[in-house]
Amino acid sequence: MNTSTSASTSKTEPKADSKSESKTGSVTEAAYKIDSHTQKLVDEIKQLSKKRNAVILAHNYQIPIIQDIADFVGDSLGLSQQAAKTSAETIVFCGVHFMAETAAILCPTKRVLIPDLEAGCSLAESIDLAGLVAWKAEHPNAVVVSYVNTTAEIKALSDYCCTSGNALKIVQSIPEDKEILFLPDQFLGSWVQKMTGRKNMHIWMGECHVHAAVHPSKIDEKMKEHPDAELLIHPECGCLTPYLDRVARNAPDSKDVLKVASTEGMLKLATTSSAKKFVVATEVGILHRLKKENPEKEFLPISSEMSCQFMKMITLEKLHRSLVEDVFHVTVPEETASKARLAIERMISIF
Ligand code: 13P
Ligand code: SF4
Repeated sequence: MNTSTSASTSKTEPKADSKSESKTGSVTEAAYKIDSHTQKLVDEIKQLSKKRNAVILAHNYQIPIIQDIADFVGDSLGLSQQAAKTSAETIVFCGVHFMAETAAILCPTKRVLIPDLEAGCSLAESIDLAGLVAWKAEHPNAVVVSYVNTTAEIKALSDYCCTSGNALKIVQSIPEDKEILFLPDQFLGSWVQKMTGRKNMHIWMGECHVHAAVHPSKIDEKMKEHPDAELLIHPECGCLTPYLDRVARNAPDSKDVLKVASTEGMLKLATTSSAKKFVVATEVGILHRLKKENPEKEFLPISSEMSCQFMKMITLEKLHRSLVEDVFHVTVPEETASKARLAIERMISIF
């Protein structure tokens, strides 16, 4: 069994008008139709982005055209790393609110924009401040490890942030005798606990409605239908739970077809694996990059219903408006940001 903890971003195709640090993307026409209206928007977005010295960051779950126009596409960890090191003056975050907030915390002197303020996250909503304060009071000596899918206020009360790309390494870096409060995702937490063998780890019972909805029976069903496929599973998936013993038993170089990884880890596994077919258990937006980067391989969603309506709120029109009208500005009060920054910086330094 391989578990990939790597995180990175994909630079979209370079063009002649490259900026110092990143390249403006080229749009693949195969995944969608480009009519004259769309082409005009694409051209204007590129011009505006260049004029404003902006960088467009897009999560792997974004719609194909947004991924193709972005300067960088990646997982939560990779995009945070890109935000932290960018020389651009403006960061336009095509993702959900906590991601833009994380960029704003890391880059307090930059202007961080999100094309739609309503792009939230059910997982981030599954823990609130009062809940965490009470939990910490029950375990006053515990180290708090928060998944990056949390609000700035939750991060400010955390010792470490982590993403699915580095959760194992973050937990492994904490002294064995330290009690851990891991939040808010119960499935990611259970996977981390199983893989690290950590006994003194308490897990918050939160979940992402997209990843929790897939029933474990789907795995057997899909593997029966496609016995020649490898199975890539995101650790936020509820369907992973019955397989945790098997996952933990397998050595990193095992030939097991069931592999757990962050979205960026899935991209790497798909590219390096000799398999020609993959069943993918995460949000369907990732299929665009998987197919684009591995055109000779086949990728099948475990369920075509795994679509996050929050990620899909970001459209080309809204991205265009964001650059034209300079909206929507995401800020975090410095008092909160300064506390959250330490936890986020720990996250981006361990990968
Ligand atoms: P990754 O960090 O693996 O991309 O997953 C993030 C996620 O679920 C965002 O919703
Ligand atoms: Fe949040 Fe789930 Fe959407 Fe990811 S897929 S942004 S965890 S609601």
